[in-house]
Amino acid sequence: MRKIFWILLPLLFAGKTAPGATPGDLIPAPVEYSLTSGNVESAKLAQLPEKVKVSQKAFLKRLNGRKLTDWQLRGAYWLEVGKRGVKIEAADEEGVFYARQSLKMLEALDSTVACCTILDWPRFQYRGLMLDVSRNFQDKEFVKKQLEMMALLKMNRFHFHLVDNPGWRLQIDAYPRLTQLAAWRPIADFWEWEESGGEVLGGRFVEEGTPGAYGGYFSKKDIAELLAFATERHIEIIPEIEMPGHNFETRAAYPELACSLKKTPDDWELCPGKESTYEFLEKVLLETFEMFPSPYVHIGGDEAGKRNWELCPDCQARMKAEGLQSVEELQSYMIRRMERFAHEHGKRIIGWDEILEGGLAPDATVMSWRGTEGGLKAVSQGHDVIFTPTQYCYLDYHQDPLQYKPAGRLLTLEKVYSFEPLVEGISEADARHVLGLQGNLWTEWVHEAWHAEIQFYPRAFALAEVGWSQPEKKNYPDFERRARAWSAVARQMGYNVYESK
Ligand code: ACM
Ligand code: ZN
Repeated sequence: MRKIFWILLPLLFAGKTAPGATPGDLIPAPVEYSLTSGNVESAKLAQLPEKVKVSQKAFLKRLNGRKLTDWQLRGAYWLEVGKRGVKIEAADEEGVFYARQSLKMLEALDSTVACCTILDWPRFQYRGLMLDVSRNFQDKEFVKKQLEMMALLKMNRFHFHLVDNPGWRLQIDAYPRLTQLAAWRPIADFWEWEESGGEVLGGRFVEEGTPGAYGGYFSKKDIAELLAFATERHIEIIPEIEMPGHNFETRAAYPELACSLKKTPDDWELCPGKESTYEFLEKVLLETFEMFPSPYVHIGGDEAGKRNWELCPDCQARMKAEGLQSVEELQSYMIRRMERFAHEHGKRIIGWDEILEGGLAPDATVMSWRGTEGGLKAVSQGHDVIFTPTQYCYLDYHQDPLQYKPAGRLLTLEKVYSFEPLVEGISEADARHVLGLQGNLWTEWVHEAWHAEIQFYPRAFALAEVGWSQPEKKNYPDFERRARAWSAVARQMGYNVYESK
């Protein structure tokens, strides 16, 4: 009997072809779909006519009474794949874009695509990745390549960590030494440079053009090119200008911005006492605002050692004049002042969760990285929050026990996938303040482009799904199956994707 079954098995499928890629293979998983009959060759599908209708009124009918927020509606789409071509309906061009991304992914996954319809929209409005180009520099071609993958995954925010201790990476005309000097170091290897006193002495930079110098920066032209590329893909680039900590490179270029009397010469933060610090920050921010159309600027705010401020006469005078009781309040004074400046120019600020410590600036969005407590606190005060907790979102960590593990902590694909941005303790009423989530790639240990990519992928696939798909769709074994298939395609496209053992 058994033998006969195996002999007859092929007959069961005779006359039927495998369906090919289906919406059930997509990352992120769509809200709903159905298969219709037949399939189309992927190569042919790309040539068939595409009918597009952008109409809010028509699309609301498709939703059949389901209520979406304004931003969900902008990203929502209906897609039909048929033998005679493709139909797309959406309320906005953004939805049309996401329909095409689904289509591209289906075409890339298999040589045929099942005829189907999809109705889909995002769960969270902020679906981000952060790249640190300060510690190790990656150029604009690398950034474009990652933006392309983000678009395929329907991710929409790229947080550009452009400045930090080991290198300033953004052209600022008012302060040319930032890129003539502070973008270049004599030793390429970050740790070797660090151990040679690179950060501590703050002086281990060399002039641009010095033979063998390691580094680089983005010119205004480069930024314009990246922005055009990102905008076409509905990705917003959010620049980060760190203050008041992580600024050794600024000291190298403009030592006068440091506190004049130091308790710990190894620490270096901008001096929030001196007026010249604000002049520096305002000019830098103004040029940043002119370059980046994002409504946000990230002002950092993390890990500022504040010990020198306790001794510095300028800081002490500022605290007295402003009635500030602690150095934490002095940091908040600076951040609030920068927020006012940002508002005057139509921008809002995002900061790492340390900006909560001396009192939050009135309209600041908090990026919760030291766990989720900062985010919960911010939300309880009516502020927006983006979750990037180390335990789920730090992509510098190794992804299985066999991977080289310099950053010390394990963060598997499954763990990333298990993150729920509506963390325990968020009330239904406060959920609207949770903008979404972001994966952060710090590059202390990540020198090469291929290495940066394996740190991103496949874990960014999981972040994309957590950010976009409905929570009831969550199913790790099914996601793992899709992640394996998409990893294989991504490799063919030229991406380096980590293969967990
Ligand atoms: C951070 O990881 N210091 C935000
Ligand atoms: Zn000072």
